[in-house]
Amino acid sequence: MSFPISIHPIEKSRLSGVDLKHLTFGKEFTDHMLVADFYDGKWQKCEIVPYGLVPTSPSIYALHYGQSIFEGMKAVLDKAGNPMLFRPMDNFHRLNYSGKRMAMPQLPEDIFMNGLMELLKLDKNWIPKEEGSALYIRPFMYCADELIGIKPTEVFQFKIIMSPVSKYYNDPVKILVADKYVRASHGGTGDIKAAGNYGGTMLPMIEAKQKGFDQVLWMDAVEYKYLNEIGSMNVFVQIGDTFLTPDLDGNILDGVTRRSVIALLKDEGYKVEERKISIDEIVAAADKGILNDAFGTGTAASIAPIDLFGYNDKTLKVKPVAERKISNHILHRLDAIKCGNEADKFGWVMEVK
Ligand SMILES: Cc1ncc(COP(=O)(O)O)c(C=O)c1O
Repeated sequence: MSFPISIHPIEKSRLSGVDLKHLTFGKEFTDHMLVADFYDGKWQKCEIVPYGLVPTSPSIYALHYGQSIFEGMKAVLDKAGNPMLFRPMDNFHRLNYSGKRMAMPQLPEDIFMNGLMELLKLDKNWIPKEEGSALYIRPFMYCADELIGIKPTEVFQFKIIMSPVSKYYNDPVKILVADKYVRASHGGTGDIKAAGNYGGTMLPMIEAKQKGFDQVLWMDAVEYKYLNEIGSMNVFVQIGDTFLTPDLDGNILDGVTRRSVIALLKDEGYKVEERKISIDEIVAAADKGILNDAFGTGTAASIAPIDLFGYNDKTLKVKPVAERKISNHILHRLDAIKCGNEADKFGWVMEVK
């Protein structure tokens, strides 16, 4: 028997007050949210309730010590108007991978998947139809023990909220190569979606923006020599005819979009290498004029073309976006698979019935 989910629908939807054609990323939230409680060693109850403020004690552990993890995924509509999810089980498994590292309870699959399906059925009309828009889904779990002091914890909440979003980036992004701050180091939490991984990147991001860049390219924590990842994206470059992306060395997130792009590139017969990439290789490729492509991959931004990298005093220019036939084509295929316009031979999409 699957875990019971009690549903308390909203009396009046807020949707009529929201313009789904003109959205700011992550500012609007749908009518409902899922809430599940864990205490006394087990998941106790799971409910879908109207989205709204949650009474919270000022002493909850997540607020003080950052025991908090999250996921990010999207739903779009197919031509018939059915919601489609992209690789949701990958997000489910990654949530539990993050939870294990953060000493949090494993979430049962039926709370995640059935909860998601029920939420989407209720809030389906919030999925925007504009090209590049989607319903962004944010599952997250945090420690709700009322406790000050570093000790093992026992009370957790899992929630899912959803936000109709437009495109994340409208223009190719300018990337600053980190040379002062680090995001992750060996044995840390770089390969999970821990909330604290992001808090520490705010100051570097603000400083990068002040210098005219959109995001920071994180480098290895020892020599600032090898590429890690960008903000909330994995990074790819194409040198000559080979696509390169950093290998999963424990410091970067195993991105669902990264996996999908690698599979699509290989499907088309292109050479892809997952390995350590030094910044010197990128500098040499830009000097020789063979830095043919560079892009970030992530659920929010999909495939985001990189215009240039700022590294020390140098500007490493990538080939113009209009000439990047391969990544443009891969983006097109990825979008087509997500909304059911291309047959899904990989088994990636799940329709919400
Ligand atoms: C740090 C980081 N790297 C990479 C990604 C891309 O992962 P995905 O493609 O699963 O969204 C994300 C976004 O979730 C991220 O936060």
